[in-house]
Amino acid sequence: MIEWNKHSLLDLRELNKEEIEMVLETAKSLKEVSLREVKKVPALRGKTVVLLFFESSTRTRTSFELAAKRLSADTINIAVNNSAMSKGESVLDTARNLEAMNVDMIVVRHACAGVPNLLAQNLKTSIVNAGDGCREHPTQALLDLFTIKEKLGRIEGLKVGIVGDILHSRVARSNIMGFTKLGAEVTVCGPSTLMPPGIESTGVKVTYNVLELIEQCDVLMVLRIQQERQRDKYLPSIREYARMFGINKEKLRHAKKDILIMHPGPTNRGVELSAEVADGEYSVILDQVANGLAIRMAVLYLLLGTHGKAPAGE
Ligand code: CP
Repeated sequence: MIEWNKHSLLDLRELNKEEIEMVLETAKSLKEVSLREVKKVPALRGKTVVLLFFESSTRTRTSFELAAKRLSADTINIAVNNSAMSKGESVLDTARNLEAMNVDMIVVRHACAGVPNLLAQNLKTSIVNAGDGCREHPTQALLDLFTIKEKLGRIEGLKVGIVGDILHSRVARSNIMGFTKLGAEVTVCGPSTLMPPGIESTGVKVTYNVLELIEQCDVLMVLRIQQERQRDKYLPSIREYARMFGINKEKLRHAKKDILIMHPGPTNRGVELSAEVADGEYSVILDQVANGLAIRMAVLYLLLGTHGKAPAGE
């Protein structure tokens, strides 16, 4: 295995194939910790992880906090609305003040693309991107890759479909990076108004026909319509979107019999996928959530632990 030499995780763009595989291997070793009666190892004892979330989150914030605690790190949640930022302090000044207290890592989610990079450029503390605007969500892509590898045994050569609001999706951007680096063939699908111009240059195919997509793919990743990021009207109506692109049992009659249905969450049942598909035999949505914890443990371990060494014997 290669030597890990990254201090921060800002995006999948900066990770090469070997580094992605190292995170996946480390997560595989650490997943077992959460199955023990005493779900804790001392790997990051004495380290402090700050969670600085400017956007709402259930899965990412909780799993980063749990990951840190299972590795014995101390955690602090900054309640942004009750912090000095409500008095006008900038994100960078806030982060500099946290660094002055000698914290080891800041995990940041922000509605503006590039905020994690800004912090990483100006601080010595490790920075982890927990989602920045429409740009990237690297740990989501890593947990998606992990889940597929766990279920199907490989990434290389798979046909992966991503359907939904591609334009506003940081999950789609990070996953396209990850899948193409690991040798999967990606096709994106959605309304033409929600398709980024020139997306083919990232190495993906584009289709506007969801049945054509469903027929060919081994993995179908379903994305939410991100109304909170849409300033213009991109769709005639949500009902029309659900009719055309929503994934339901009827449309899945065209799928391969062992297709994986994925969704990063939060799901809008009855819009991008029906309740029976979300809870159905092909869905691995809750496996993704469980694996998110293992991936975030791996990221914390690699960035803050004894770099490059396997986590065995903890
Ligand atoms: N997938 C994801 O980022 O979920 P949360 O918004 O709940 O963190």
